[in-house]
Amino acid sequence: MSNLMVTPAATSISQQLQIPSELPPECKSGTVRVGVIGYGYWGPNIVRNLHGQKNVQAVMVCDKSPAALARAQKAYPNIETVSDPLEILRSPDIDAVAVITPVWAHYELAKMALENGKHLFIEKPFTSNSAQAEELIDLAARKKLTIMVDHTFLFTGAVRKIRELTESGALGDLYYYDSLRVNLGLFQHDVSVVWDLAPHDLSIMDHIIKAEPEAIVATGEKHLNGVEDVAFMTIYFPRNVIAHINVNWLSPVKIRTTLIGGQKKMVVWNDLVADEKVRVYDKGVQISSGEGIRDLLVSYRSGDMWAPQLEQVEALQAEMGYFADCILNNKVPFNDGHAGLRVVRMLEAAEQSIRRKGELVRL
Ligand SMILES: NC(=O)c1ccc[n+]([C@@H]2O[C@H](COP(=O)([O-])OP(=O)(O)OC[C@H]3O[C@@H](n4cnc5c(N)ncnc54)[C@H](O)[C@@H]3O)[C@@H](O)[C@H]2O)c1
Repeated sequence: MSNLMVTPAATSISQQLQIPSELPPECKSGTVRVGVIGYGYWGPNIVRNLHGQKNVQAVMVCDKSPAALARAQKAYPNIETVSDPLEILRSPDIDAVAVITPVWAHYELAKMALENGKHLFIEKPFTSNSAQAEELIDLAARKKLTIMVDHTFLFTGAVRKIRELTESGALGDLYYYDSLRVNLGLFQHDVSVVWDLAPHDLSIMDHIIKAEPEAIVATGEKHLNGVEDVAFMTIYFPRNVIAHINVNWLSPVKIRTTLIGGQKKMVVWNDLVADEKVRVYDKGVQISSGEGIRDLLVSYRSGDMWAPQLEQVEALQAEMGYFADCILNNKVPFNDGHAGLRVVRMLEAAEQSIRRKGELVRL
């Protein structure tokens, strides 16, 4: 029986994130009052997960589309709806702004939010380029404001478990991270499939590999509307750790499967299944020299498979609670502006490599 089978029962996400039940009142009401800008596809998920939380709440929703505002009004009659972002950005009744618009609008809204003394929750990818991200990080530091970038997957039971396995050394030294994230659409007008889907894997890798990548090689092609809709990225990390990400909007089927290979154990994470999303395999290979100079002794280990229990908490629910906790208790989130910037730097490098047909770009 593998050691992993006797891993102590998981602590709850709230305990792991250290979300206290009693929060000291720092914002005027002891609750972080959030204005949400952007109520398209993803914005409603943010508002729903702010709703009903103890230490954080959505008090205003802004969208320039009247149809989006009508949807918000119907779902939440008590939340004020506005079409001009300035009403949120300048409101004295708002402590934090959530920017849930397409990426081209992130920087300007985020900058105005910080300049007006608001904490910032902002969608992935943080900004359209690293210079913008660096500027926002500096501005927030000067104003002593929190930036949290919505790297949602870091709050899922699956990623929390995988990080626990890597942190505890259960997987041994990491060999590779290999992810397939493909489906039909949703086509974006302003960003390629790399900027749309790869931030998920890049933020997960940043969280679990915990090493600065050294170089990226990427290839991709545009088939329909002038942005890459299929792309393949390889990322080189120190100590021979290698990552591969395949992102594709032209796949007939949706696949969300990641393999993580370690010296001691290997993980298969299939995010689309209801049960046993994460499977840990006690499999591996050992190579030693035989008697002759060219003799290699290869032994394969094929032990147990184990499917750990994962916490069934909606990731955004945990993330919004953590956002409030960081603001109210002056903590720096692990998904802060710097984490967002590291992802943007990898995206920029991948884009550069794609333009040069797969040339190695050093980071
Ligand atoms: N974390 C995740 O898993 C996840 C999932 C999906 C999307 N996203 C991110 O969320 C963001 C939004 O994506 P989406 O799919 O919801 O886009 P969307 O186009 O469906 O919605 C964006 C909304 O923002 C509004 N808007 C744009 N600019 C505005 C402005 N200046 N003032 C007021 N309203 C404005 C638009 O009218 C629209 O209703 C993107 O950054 C995307 O990458 C994250």
